[in-house]
Amino acid sequence: MSADLHPVPDEWARTAKIDNDKYQEMYRASIEDPETFWGEQGRRITWFRDYTKIRDVSYDADDLHIRWYEDGTLNAAYNCLDRHLADKGDQPAIIWEGDEPDTDETVTYRDLHARVGRLANGLKALGVSKGDRVTIYMPMIIEAAVAMLACARIGAIHSVVFGGFSPDSLAGRIQDCESNCVITADEGVRGGRRIPLKANTDAALAECPGVEHVVVVRHTGGDVAWKDGRDVWYHELVEGQSDDCPAEEMNAEDPLFILYTSGSTGKPKGVMHTTGGYMVYTSMTHEYVFDYRPGDIYWCTADVGWVTGHSYILYGPLANGATTLMFEGVPNYPDVSRFWQVCDKHNVQIFYTAPTAIRALMGAGPDPVKKTSRKSLRLLGTVGEPINPEAWNWYYDVVGEGRCPIVDTWWQTETGGILISPLPGATDLKPGSATRPFFGIRPILVDEFGKELEGAVSGNLCITESWPGQMRTVYGDHERFVQTYFSTYPGRYFTGDGARRDEDGYFWITGRVDDVINVSGHRMGTAEVESALVAHDKVSEAAVVGYPHDLKGQGIYAYVTLMAGESPNDDLRKELVQWVRKEIGPIASPDLIQWAPGLPKTRSGKIMRRILRKIAEDDYGSLGDTSTLADPAVVDDLIENRQNRR
Ligand code: WTA
Repeated sequence: MSADLHPVPDEWARTAKIDNDKYQEMYRASIEDPETFWGEQGRRITWFRDYTKIRDVSYDADDLHIRWYEDGTLNAAYNCLDRHLADKGDQPAIIWEGDEPDTDETVTYRDLHARVGRLANGLKALGVSKGDRVTIYMPMIIEAAVAMLACARIGAIHSVVFGGFSPDSLAGRIQDCESNCVITADEGVRGGRRIPLKANTDAALAECPGVEHVVVVRHTGGDVAWKDGRDVWYHELVEGQSDDCPAEEMNAEDPLFILYTSGSTGKPKGVMHTTGGYMVYTSMTHEYVFDYRPGDIYWCTADVGWVTGHSYILYGPLANGATTLMFEGVPNYPDVSRFWQVCDKHNVQIFYTAPTAIRALMGAGPDPVKKTSRKSLRLLGTVGEPINPEAWNWYYDVVGEGRCPIVDTWWQTETGGILISPLPGATDLKPGSATRPFFGIRPILVDEFGKELEGAVSGNLCITESWPGQMRTVYGDHERFVQTYFSTYPGRYFTGDGARRDEDGYFWITGRVDDVINVSGHRMGTAEVESALVAHDKVSEAAVVGYPHDLKGQGIYAYVTLMAGESPNDDLRKELVQWVRKEIGPIASPDLIQWAPGLPKTRSGKIMRRILRKIAEDDYGSLGDTSTLADPAVVDDLIENRQNRR
């Protein structure tokens, strides 16, 4: 084990904000007296009216509620902008790097404040007001950040939908939260390819009569259809608007945003975050996990369509007055050196990405990395999925040249911010381990009956205490919130992940234990892909599971039973892949489709997914007990025709 241990470098222990002694001391304080601890931490945010209540939480299913700082008032955009104007007005807030290497733009805090003010006034002019839901379907451009902050400024609730989602997925999310306004762009560009965002929006809105306004950023200048009275150009909307828009005084527990995420059943759910606790938690974790120091250039490569973009491109960094880099492009365009060229070009100190990107770049070998300098880099981070030690070591040795600690940050859309992660000046690193809990976080492992397991052991990961960044409810469906997270193990928040704790108390996240799969760091519900497949008129039944994939972490494996009379062929296979892309989006494309004359079911008709997972993993030697199957012969056929042969 010791060969794989990377002790905190002396210089980090000396200079970082938190060394190991300080971590221990603060962690103990946060657990022993959370009221005092969070009461003090809450002061990192600027409040219009100070709070006197710190937390009011019950994980009891009959009375589930989570409230933090509930009598305080504040505004998230004010915290991200106005309060920095006096001393950081001329400092870059956002450095934008476009898809093409010669395109970039730097926006100071003063500029960003003015741009947000103009759009906020523009939205008000359209009639958008406090509590309204605004859907944002945008590429990675500065206006996406402006749009989110403009909503926050006037107290509208934003719901950002990732630009890679299909019109149907967009429509479902608009309908669910009843948005009356959508902000989009003519087109997005990624890796030189254009994404027809406005056309997708038009298609989605055919099913969303409640949308009154569509604000369109002219980004590529591509042709778009126009609906007079509904559509308005962003530049025309903000023209002549004042830079000054008073920040709405929001209660700490007023919603800040909704973000849809996949679960094990049904449609994606609208994870709802509120204002006060979220701002406290994202700013605090951003400062300590990344050891953020004034003047640092910080780059998180996520998209604002995911929670990582919300918490660690936008809200956390800007609340801290940081300079945050926003990248429109992809790691391999124009070539696989791009990430490192951008680090050199903008002098990046802190770099935060997903393991899937590391694995893909690792495949191209060390040369494209080595031809860049990267001497500005001080700290590396990963998020979104387990990182295999091989990728970790490559990141550490080749990208960081053994100089930069790696923070492997475990968290979820639901958690709002990082819950388990090393702190670079405090935690000895083990490749592949997310290591130890952040302040105030009490992770436990339980067995299938909910019994807490002690010592070095594997189990299901639950969190016993609340933290300020925790989601508050599923938008419009509080019962689903209770059912999904608090019913499996009563009195605890169940993460849906499995984990192992080692003899040093370090956590190793092993992946989802529910029917959610993690494809290239993106969450996908198997039920969603199944319902897309069965919506095709040649498909009678479908079952989807994950399987280990070298680049994506997990791939999507679909078992498909065709309607009587349909015969399987390769064209139909391609058609079904295209179909799912169209129904959900490219990230949901099945990697492998197996024609299944029958699916293994219990006598009561329940599909035995355990068996399907094993076959997809090419691990059918250990199928376990199949005696409860209605027709054991279907399994032989599935094994015989399995698609993943390693
Ligand atoms: C997985 C992304 C291992 C996990 C912030 C979790 C991870 C899901 C890690 C949440 C990590 C995230 N190590 N697994 N460092 N980070 N995950 O909601 O399965 O898109 O439940 O949030 O990603 O994905 P989500």
